[in-house]
Amino acid sequence: MDSFLIEGGLPLSGEVTISGSKNAVLPILAATLLTSETCIIRRVPDLSDVGFMLKILQSLGAEVTRDGDTLTIRAANISGRGDYELIRKMRGSICILGPLLARLKEAVVSLPGGCVIGTRPIDLHLKGLRGLGAQVEVEAGYVRVHAPRLEGQMIFLGGRVGPTVLGTANLMMAATLASGITVIESAACEPEVVDLADFLIAMGAKITGAGSPTITIHGVKALHGADHEVIADRIEAGTFAAVAAATGGEVTLRGARPDHLGAVLDKLQEAGAEIRRAAGVLTVRGTGSLKPIDITTMPYSGFPTDMQAQLMALACQAPGTSIITERIFESRFMHASELMRLGADIAIEGPSAIVKGGRPLSGAPVMASDLRASAALVIAGLAAKGSTQVHRVYHLDRGYERMELKLQKLGARIQRTPGE
Ligand code: UD1
Repeated sequence: MDSFLIEGGLPLSGEVTISGSKNAVLPILAATLLTSETCIIRRVPDLSDVGFMLKILQSLGAEVTRDGDTLTIRAANISGRGDYELIRKMRGSICILGPLLARLKEAVVSLPGGCVIGTRPIDLHLKGLRGLGAQVEVEAGYVRVHAPRLEGQMIFLGGRVGPTVLGTANLMMAATLASGITVIESAACEPEVVDLADFLIAMGAKITGAGSPTITIHGVKALHGADHEVIADRIEAGTFAAVAAATGGEVTLRGARPDHLGAVLDKLQEAGAEIRRAAGVLTVRGTGSLKPIDITTMPYSGFPTDMQAQLMALACQAPGTSIITERIFESRFMHASELMRLGADIAIEGPSAIVKGGRPLSGAPVMASDLRASAALVIAGLAAKGSTQVHRVYHLDRGYERMELKLQKLGARIQRTPGE
C-alpha cells in the first residue's frame, strides 16, 4: 500500500486547478444507465472511485471509452445484476439501483460498502423506491428491487439527521421514467444533486426544484443521450483552501465555485484566513495568525461533513479552544487520534471534538482511516515540523486526483512511496 512522505513546515503558494467533483460524477455515471443512447461526460476526475464505478457499469454491459477527462458511455444492452464484489467496495455504487429499476423494471445489487465513518443505512433509498411502487427485498447481502410499473407519488425522504444525498439522487433518477408526477419532499439540496438534475434534464427528463428541499419530476417515456460537464469539486477546493490557511501560504483555486463553498469560506475567514474573489478566481491566504473556530456539520448549505476533518487539522494550529461537532455521521472522528500523534490536543465528547490548538505539531508516522481523514493528516503533516509518513493513501486516491502532484506544484515536499 502506498504512503506519502511529507517534509512539513513550508508555506504553500501558487495555483491549483480544481478537478471535477467526485460526488457529482458518481451518480451522473449511474444515470447513463437510463438510456441506450451515447452519453458524453466531461471533466471526469481520474479517481479510484470513478474507476470502480466504470467497472460496475461495464460489468452491467455498458461500453466505456476514455479520452483524457472525457468519457463516452453507451449502455445499449445491460443486465440488472451488478458484480457483488465491485459494488460492495464503494458506497456510491448504491445509486445504480434507481436507474436499473427504471430502465429494466428490476435490479439485484449487493449492499454497498465505502468509508468506515459510521453505520450507513440505505433505508431511505429503499423507502423512496417503495414509494414509487417497487417491491424491495433485502436478503443475504443483496437488495432486490422489482416493479413492473413505477408510479409517481409525493414522497417524504427526510431521515433522522435530515436529507440523504445519494437517496435523493436514486429516487430522482428512478422517477424520471415513472408514470405521473413525483414530488420529493425534504430532498437534499447539495450542488451535486443539482448537477445530476442538470444532466438528467439534458437527457430529456422533466425536473424542477433541484437545489431546494422540494423536487418535482414529471415522468417521461424515455431518455436520450446527452453531453455534460461535471461541476468542480467543492471538497477538493475546500481542502486546498485549508492547506493555504494551515501553512500560512497563498493558494489560487482555479475553476473552483465560490457559490458552492459559502460555509467553508466563512469558517476559514473566521479562522483568520483572507479570502479574495476576483473575476471568477478564488484565492485563499493564510495570514499566519489563526483563531479558534466553532463548527457544526449540517446538510447543505451548512458546513459539510466532508470538510470536518480538514478543518480539525487547521484548528490544531489555532491558539485557543475550537469546538467541532459532527451531526451527519456518528463515528467520523477517527482522524483525531492520528492528529494527536503529531502533537495535537483533542478530546472527543459525544458528537463534539474539543481542540486545544496552538501547540506546535511535529512529524510522525500516521495511518489514514478514510478519505477525508487522510486529507486532514496531509494538511497537518504539511504544517508540522519534520517528516510525516501518511500510510494507506489509497483512501486519498479514492477522492483526490493526483493530490501529491498538485501539492508539489505549490511547493510542498511530498513524495509517494510505493507500497510492497
Ligand atoms: C454523500 C457523499 C458523502 C457525504 C454525504 C453527506 C457521495 C458519493 N457521498 O454520501 O461524501 O459525506 O453525502 O454529505 O455523494 N442515512 C440514513 N438512511 C439512508 C441514507 C442515509 O439514515 O438510507 C443517513 C446517513 O447515515 C447519514 C445521513 O443520512 O447520517 C446523510 O447521509 P447521506 O446524505 O445519505 O450520505 P451519502 O449520500 O451516502
